[in-house]
Amino acid sequence: MNTFTVRGKEIYIGDHKVQDLAEKYGTPTYVYNEDRIRENFRRAYKAFSSHYPDFKFFYAVKACNNPAIVSILKQEGAGIDAASVNEIKLAKQVGLGGENVMFSGNFLSDDDIRQGLESGVIFNLDDISILPRVLKYSKPDILSFRVNPGYGKSNVGEFVTNAGPKAKFGIHPDKVTEAYRLAKEAGIRRFGVHMMPGSCLLEPEYFAFVTNLLMEIIGKTARELKIEFEFIDIGGGLGIPYRSSEQPLDLDKTAELVAKTFKDAVIKYGMTPPRLMMEPARYFVGDAAVVIGKVHSIKHSYSKIIGTDIGMNILVRPAMYGSYHNILFDKRIDDETEVCGLCGQLCENTDFWAKEREFPKTIQEGDLMIATEAGAYGFGMSYQYNGRLRAAEVLVNGKESYLIRSRETFDDMIRNTSVPEYLRN
Ligand SMILES: Cc1ncc(COP(=O)(O)O)c(C=O)c1O
Repeated sequence: MNTFTVRGKEIYIGDHKVQDLAEKYGTPTYVYNEDRIRENFRRAYKAFSSHYPDFKFFYAVKACNNPAIVSILKQEGAGIDAASVNEIKLAKQVGLGGENVMFSGNFLSDDDIRQGLESGVIFNLDDISILPRVLKYSKPDILSFRVNPGYGKSNVGEFVTNAGPKAKFGIHPDKVTEAYRLAKEAGIRRFGVHMMPGSCLLEPEYFAFVTNLLMEIIGKTARELKIEFEFIDIGGGLGIPYRSSEQPLDLDKTAELVAKTFKDAVIKYGMTPPRLMMEPARYFVGDAAVVIGKVHSIKHSYSKIIGTDIGMNILVRPAMYGSYHNILFDKRIDDETEVCGLCGQLCENTDFWAKEREFPKTIQEGDLMIATEAGAYGFGMSYQYNGRLRAAEVLVNGKESYLIRSRETFDDMIRNTSVPEYLRN
């Protein structure tokens, strides 16, 4: 099931007309298609578990942390990858804890460490320097380190490359054995290992390549320290196409290549086969949502610019990473196009979807539009600049639609602020 379909000239999300959703919930609104999320999860799980049965997914909630969306993935069998104590709390709120949650924060404060330990989830340390600080509080039952295998890749802009020499994440390969040695000497007995290989990767061979890098690093560590890794988490990064020119990731090939690389290394280093884990996010939710917006104003100045209520505060990826999202206009499908600009309403000149792109010539004020593939790193990165408040979130399931987050209000904007007495006259 596709997240949206075009019937005649009208856009539908699942069984719902965009026009009906906009009338019911207003704009801008994120709309998630539950069937698509479930399908994405099942397709990926089937691919990996059929090549390596002792396999588990942890959903990285940073991509979309709405509890309704997290609950869908929990029902499908995912654990949770949490980047902060609040994301651990979110996991607990939807009923996941213990070894179903992996805490992979970076540059942690003492408070993060203390609360992370108290929560009883799997602790995944981003650096060797954090270990003594953890041990000051207590000794985790099971511990993992995030390894930076020295190589990273991103198909959504270089700023999203989260491994390799220029990334801020993970332990240098030369320090990995030392990190586990210190942990073992401190009395920790159960170990896992983790990496994050990159973002939005569409090449199966790349996953096998980085898995091999990781296995070579930790195979030696396992042999030298005589430790058994209970799990090896090869991170997220399963990509989705954002442009029509991109091909979807061949999941079965990815799983087959990764499982083979993994099993070969397990044999080579004489390891007891560990659980294979991954923590994707974009793959599950990225193409399962759109943002519905409205054209409010069209101006002809030095060029023609169409102004919408989906600004970079609502979906920041294009302004932040130069990412691409497809944009469709309801009832203008297949109309003749012209090159013009499309922007949001913020007082920043980076607030553009495109400065020059082909859009229908027929677009009018009041038209509805959707930005596609908006489910990952969309709402979660939105903010309130210029008093343009965060969007509503809606879940569609068959003929039903549910408001899963209300649109922000002025009261939300000023909540937690206070004006000292002497400024009040
Ligand atoms: C530690 C970690 N795991 C998983 C993910 C999810 O990545 P993706 O959405 O590319 O699958 C991220 C994303 O940044 C991450 O930082």
